[in-house]
Amino acid sequence: MNAKQRIEELTKQLNHYNYRYYVDHVSEVSDQEFDRLMRELQELEAKNPELAMPNSPTQRVGSDLQQEFKHVRHNIPMLSLSNAYSVDELLTWYDSVKAVYGKDVAIAYEPKYDGLSISLIYRFGKLAQAVTRGDGVQGDDVTENVKMIERVPLYIDQPDIKAQSRFEIRGEVLMPFKTFAKLNAEREANGEEPFANPRNAAAGTLKSTRSSVVRERGLDVYLYEVPLRFTSKEWEQDQCDLMNNLWRFGVPTAQSFHVGYYNNAIVDCFDKERIEYVINDFVLRRPLMDYPIDGIVFKVADRHIRSQCGATYKAPKWAIAYKFNAERMITTVRDVTFQVGRTGQVTPVVHFDPVPLAGTLVRKATGNNADFLHEMHIAIGGRIEVEKGGEIIPKIVVGVDPCATKDFKEVTYPKYCPECGAPLVKDGSNYYCIGESCPAQLQARLEHFVSREAMNIQGIGPKMIEEWINDGIVKDVADIYESEKLETFFSTRIILSRTESKSVPAHRVLFALGIRYVGASTAKLLLKRYGSINMLAVIATACPDQLLQIDGVGVDTTISLGRWFSDKENLELLKRLQTAGLQMDEEIPVPTASSNGGESQPLAGLTIVISGVFEEHSRDEYRAMIEQYGGKNGSSVSKNTDYVLAGSNMGPAKREKAEQLGIEIIDEAQFLRLIQNS
Ligand code: IVH
Repeated sequence: MNAKQRIEELTKQLNHYNYRYYVDHVSEVSDQEFDRLMRELQELEAKNPELAMPNSPTQRVGSDLQQEFKHVRHNIPMLSLSNAYSVDELLTWYDSVKAVYGKDVAIAYEPKYDGLSISLIYRFGKLAQAVTRGDGVQGDDVTENVKMIERVPLYIDQPDIKAQSRFEIRGEVLMPFKTFAKLNAEREANGEEPFANPRNAAAGTLKSTRSSVVRERGLDVYLYEVPLRFTSKEWEQDQCDLMNNLWRFGVPTAQSFHVGYYNNAIVDCFDKERIEYVINDFVLRRPLMDYPIDGIVFKVADRHIRSQCGATYKAPKWAIAYKFNAERMITTVRDVTFQVGRTGQVTPVVHFDPVPLAGTLVRKATGNNADFLHEMHIAIGGRIEVEKGGEIIPKIVVGVDPCATKDFKEVTYPKYCPECGAPLVKDGSNYYCIGESCPAQLQARLEHFVSREAMNIQGIGPKMIEEWINDGIVKDVADIYESEKLETFFSTRIILSRTESKSVPAHRVLFALGIRYVGASTAKLLLKRYGSINMLAVIATACPDQLLQIDGVGVDTTISLGRWFSDKENLELLKRLQTAGLQMDEEIPVPTASSNGGESQPLAGLTIVISGVFEEHSRDEYRAMIEQYGGKNGSSVSKNTDYVLAGSNMGPAKREKAEQLGIEIIDEAQFLRLIQNS
């Protein structure tokens, strides 16, 4: 594969993961794998800048923006952090900081809290607004929800803070483990799907449209940053002092420690031994903590020095996150069972001796497909290595050759569906049950249809569905809305929730149908393009090639959609769902780069002319950025021009004109600082 193809592939893959993570709150890969792919892409793009795609994920932070909340522009963008996985990477980072400052600097370190970032804005000491990170430039206004978090101070009674019309503190909203366990137990008892991890639970809660839910769910907050200001007082010069002093003022701040600092004097530097000591200390403390953390953040302690370090478009250079490695354990395989999914796909489930990993006891993991079982040498009685990070479901990472153990039994793949006895057919690496009335498929389809990400009908659990299937009173998802027999099972809560599901947007209806390869994000893409499920049906059957033009839609999806929509029974089902009142259409959004909640725009009133070739971003991206931050992109240099953003090879005529008119010429780095340090 050549560089161009690989760049395209990585761009597509990473954009997909980002979308799943930030919008659907689902992690499809481990953080490490994600970072590895991101680095590969960064390196390829650095070597071949002309091949970088305009939608490259290296150019932005992920987005968690949702439709229901008012969007607010951040005064200062909320950036992300660069990651390190080893002591060496931390040392390299420290060298780069030292190179900027010219000598050793003190470093502060804090837990990397595993939740969602939030920005709290205080006006004259009173909490005025709380905004999520969103895409880094603008976030969701979740003020009412954040006010429901006990530890968030609604008022800070401190003279320096009360004197300011705007005092901003940033930090992390998270869910403590105890609260998480209780919440999931309740959800399971109610037949609702449990949250995969505390981070997802916190995200779902913070984005709830009812603040009473937030109150009940007991979120917590740790605050760790005050964006740099022009004037700062004695108590906020250094990260550790700032955290301690804010704590004294009643603000729940991060625990912050110094390396290489003693009684205000730097006594030694940030070296290998120190770093190892800090990491070991955290690894030992972590299991005792009552809230989730996924690493350690190292920061230049002196806040003045920070401003000299600068930032990239994505992350500041004065801080770095050391991420804990996913935990791994070796165990013995005891059994392999086969599960039939909603599309008929038969997936092996590998059961093994329980192993403690990332805070839970893990007993099974997916065996993916026949090829995977083979590659991993999975055999009953054989050994495997299992991994689990903070975010993700456990997975098998290494198969230890079964020949190393004496008594092992090979896994035989079934030829017939373990649920309905219909023959299995192979497609790619997977086997599918082709039974028309396979109860397992129906069960999975119904469970998927009512799930939170799909129609979100609360109160219908797997047990209830199983009963219906055993009694033979359900044959498809539309029965939930039509069948009188089913209704005898419904509580008022289910009836209410079913009514609410009729206003679930069309892209979620499409996702709920459970069409193969049409996940939540693909469904969203499709409806964004066509605006209606019926329109999609026409395109998918009449001119499927059109679908391929959508970034993120591939051949498999296109074929699968074509098949689904040419099936008469499916069309009949759609019609019934439409008659029941489900949403089949949604508005096609008109992109607006500059709509925001009225916060200040650093480039407002400025006209900037772009000239030359750039390294960090393309000209088009700079043009978009100028507009996004409130400025105007001028086409030629005139007395109305405020700045010329110059890359290499700037036209000599332009340069002369700018110099003649006394217009400031700035380079990429200066421009990026202009929009970041506003
Ligand atoms: S400092 C410019 N300190 O990690 C960003 N971030 O992976 C400065 N995070 O977006 C952030 N604990 O949401 C900082 N003690 C801590 C943190 C922390 C968690 C989060 C934050 C950030 C993300 C980056």
